[in-house]
Amino acid sequence: MPKRAATALADVVSLARRRGFAYPSGEVYGATRAAWDLGPLGVELRDNLRRQWWRAVVHGRDDVVGLDASIILPPATWVASGHEDGFADPLTECRSCRQRFRVDHLRDGETGDDDGRPADLVSAVCPSCGTRGAWTEPRRFSGLLTTHVGAAEGDEGEGGRHHLRPEAAQGVFLNLANVVTTSRSKPPFGIAQVATCFRNEITPGDFLFRTREFEQMSLAWFVKPGEGPRWHTYWLEERTRWYVDLGIDPDDLRHHEHPRPGPGEHTTHTVDIDFRFGLPGSEWGALEGVTDRADHDLRAHAEASGRDLSFFDQAAGERWLPHVVEPAAGLSRAVMAFLVAAHATDEAPNTKGGVDQRTVLRLDPRLAPVKAAVLPLSRNAELSPRARALATELRASWPVEFDDAGAIGKRYRRQDEIGTPYCVTVDFETLDDEAVTVRERDTMQQTRVPLAGVADLLAQKLRGC
Ligand code: GAP
Repeated sequence: MPKRAATALADVVSLARRRGFAYPSGEVYGATRAAWDLGPLGVELRDNLRRQWWRAVVHGRDDVVGLDASIILPPATWVASGHEDGFADPLTECRSCRQRFRVDHLRDGETGDDDGRPADLVSAVCPSCGTRGAWTEPRRFSGLLTTHVGAAEGDEGEGGRHHLRPEAAQGVFLNLANVVTTSRSKPPFGIAQVATCFRNEITPGDFLFRTREFEQMSLAWFVKPGEGPRWHTYWLEERTRWYVDLGIDPDDLRHHEHPRPGPGEHTTHTVDIDFRFGLPGSEWGALEGVTDRADHDLRAHAEASGRDLSFFDQAAGERWLPHVVEPAAGLSRAVMAFLVAAHATDEAPNTKGGVDQRTVLRLDPRLAPVKAAVLPLSRNAELSPRARALATELRASWPVEFDDAGAIGKRYRRQDEIGTPYCVTVDFETLDDEAVTVRERDTMQQTRVPLAGVADLLAQKLRGC
């Protein structure tokens, strides 16, 4: 039984648009399924996630350093990595409505296959018009997005046809020798990168889940040959723990093993960390892939470039090519996953003594776009300036909103809906007792606190934000 209601995702997308987390890209020109723009709250959530990842993977350790490589790398990169020839998906067209789809994204019309496995084409139903089994012979379609740089068409050197990177890792591999020399790193160690990537997806859609432009948080972890499997297990556990620590219910996560490579194929092993997105047609979707890439990439770049990318192990007195374990997380998908995971409805008391339905984003404070809202009980010549002054004081440390427009109940509802963990209310008693009420988002509990102590209280509650 699906745990997440089919309408949950639609509710999240609606909230995201209404409150300013994300907008369909180019809406004034009719928009597209292929891209979303992050709004004022979306950029904060995305940046908070990226910061938490960087803290966990780079700053929280002494064996990982950061990098920011170019989006456009030498074309030879993608030949050596195998993307030029191999990064292609089988494409088929519905003979009835002429829409095109990736074969592995089609679902079984009889079983309604819901476990992410592709359907047999004979029984696959067209997601666009509902016709069953009317598919053209699949053909390969490159997932690389291509551009032309410089003045010279057709030149594969400095100018001419180039690809926009489809993954973060290759830019790291090209810089391995630079980083080893300048940061004196030695395996086991890692290079982390948050990178905008591009893929010519045939069937983009499902909100931020599959877009042609997206952000990846990738760690290339270099190890001694033979140690890949042990580190693969380590990083799968570490990365799973990261999602749980930031508020994802472990029951909404699973590990999904990719089929092991056949004889002659690259010696890679991938386990995806899947999240229960509640997508139409497939409840689960990959959040992150943890791959043991062995020495496939470094060997290919060493051969193609003629550069020695091996590492001299002084302790053992031997030279070897490091193996790579790569946890690669989708940052855009993580924004969507945390929105889905945090979205809830419950009941809140109203001013008439009854209860109202409320929508609340139970985001971990570390992820919440706005950390606190300062709300005068009503717009008033005495209350509003006091509240504004408090908001200004708190803004020195966190993103804080001030709002005095409309009924206080409605203002609480708005802050609940955007996931603000604390509301601070300045009321008429404040003018006498120099105290305010701090309301906690999830429990709705209210505590009276001296005005002068609000910043210290929030500093305690928002540690790590
Ligand atoms: N370097 C390995 C790699 O790129 P991947 O499984 O293709 O592996 C890693 O991508 C993650 O990037 C995925 O788990 C997903 O979260 C994210 N991702 C991949 N394609 C995406 C797309 N078109 N839109 C949004 N996120 C995507």
